[in-house]
Parts: sequence; C-alpha cells; structure tokens
Amino acid sequence: MRFDVFTLLPETLRPYLNASILEKAAARGLIEVHLHNIRDYARDRHHTTDDTPYGGGGGMVMKPEPVFDALETVLGSPPACPVILLTPQGRLFNQKIASELASHKRIALVSGRYEGFDERIRQHLVTDEISIGDYVLTGGELPALILIDALSRLIPGALGDPTGAEDDSHALGLLEYPHYTRPPEFRGWRVPDVLLSGDHGKIETWRREQSLQRTLAKRPDMLESANLGEADKKFLAKMNGTQGRKTKDSE
Ligand code: ADE
Repeated sequence: MRFDVFTLLPETLRPYLNASILEKAAARGLIEVHLHNIRDYARDRHHTTDDTPYGGGGGMVMKPEPVFDALETVLGSPPACPVILLTPQGRLFNQKIASELASHKRIALVSGRYEGFDERIRQHLVTDEISIGDYVLTGGELPALILIDALSRLIPGALGDPTGAEDDSHALGLLEYPHYTRPPEFRGWRVPDVLLSGDHGKIETWRREQSLQRTLAKRPDMLESANLGEADKKFLAKMNGTQGRKTKDSE
C-alpha cells in the first residue's frame, strides 16, 4: 500500500517511520510512504502557505494554491486515489474505518497547520475527512502517522506474525482478552491455571469470556454492535445478573 503525505513538516514524520515496525514493512515492500512538503509548491518568493482569513478573526488559514498544486502534481488532476484531510471536523477514526481504508492500494493524507484550511480545499480536493479524537492538536502530522500505523498493521505480513491483527482489541468488535507470559508466578501473582492447562478448548472459552467481561466492564457500548453467539449472550446475561454492571474486570 502506498501513502502520500502532504505536510509542512515532513521531518516530523520520518523518525517514527524509520524506527518502528513500519520500517520493516517498508523494507519488505508492503508499504511505501512518500512525504511531500506543501511549501515546495508555493510559487511566490517567500513560499507562502498561509494567509489571514477573509472577514477577520484570529489565526491564519492554509492557502489553496500550494495544496492543490502539490496534490495535483503528485496524484494527477483530479487525484487518482482517496484524499484524506486530517481534521478535528472529520469522521471519528476507528478500527472499521481502518479496515475500509486499508483496502485501497494508495491513499493521500493531507496534514495541516495553522487555524484551518481554505474551504475550497475541503470542497473541491479532498474526498474524506478523518479526526483521530475529539481534541485539537497543533497539526495533522500525528494523526497521519496514526492512520499509517493502524492501516499498515492490517496488511498481511506487516506484523511478521501469521495471525496478524486478527485477534486485536476492536478487530472482532470486543476488547481483547488478557495476556500472560513467563514466569508463571511473579511477586505472588499467578498466571490463571487454565492458561497452563494445555486444554485448548478451555483456553478458548476462557479467552472469549474474558473478552466479553472486559468489554462489558470497560466499553459496554461496543456490545451493541458486536457479533455475539448464543453462548456469549448467555454468559453476558449471567454477568449482568450476578454482578450487575461491574466497573472493574476480575482476572
Ligand atoms: N488536526 C488537529 N487535531 C486533529 C484531530 N483531532 N484529528 C485529526 N486531525 C487533527
């Protein structure tokens, strides 16, 4: 999958891209990230990329010309792939959107600085707007990295693990079950016996129930859209009946 990121601060993305699992995914040819500096497409002597807002008010606004020129030069006119603007006004990013976007061979990400974008960029250039949460950051660079990270790990082989992202929290509509590794006892805290039993059927049931219990305790909203079987529903009814809405999951 290819990502083209348009930003005024390409150097802020490089260290993460070059130091994480993403670097390995790039080395294996699974992802390509191309960083483009919007300032390189500003045509005036000072390479201006922002200006004061019409109508007054505080802050500066990103000018349309360098953004259109950058995207059209790199992606063609009109751009040949989805163009995603990172903005607190976008649809709220989640695992479902990550899967949807990961089905594309190429996407463009536009990260802004300043107070905002000239509205014509929104209306006539971008095809989607994504927010990574209901808070405002100083720019769209971290959100772009978050998208690249979340999408890349969905590409088969990117995690270097055959089961890949299948069992992730959120992938199945539930939070993930707890994990343990050696030693079997640490400071008196023991790994649950079932995990040491070697009984794969029991382990699977225990994990499923832990997932359900955790989701009920921490994110009950997720249960409404989760894909639940009869056994799951029975277990949840029992949890609700015997313990009410517990706020802390028991291990
Ligand atoms: N740019 C600034 N804040 C943002 C947010 N919450 N999501 C996406 N892009 C942003």
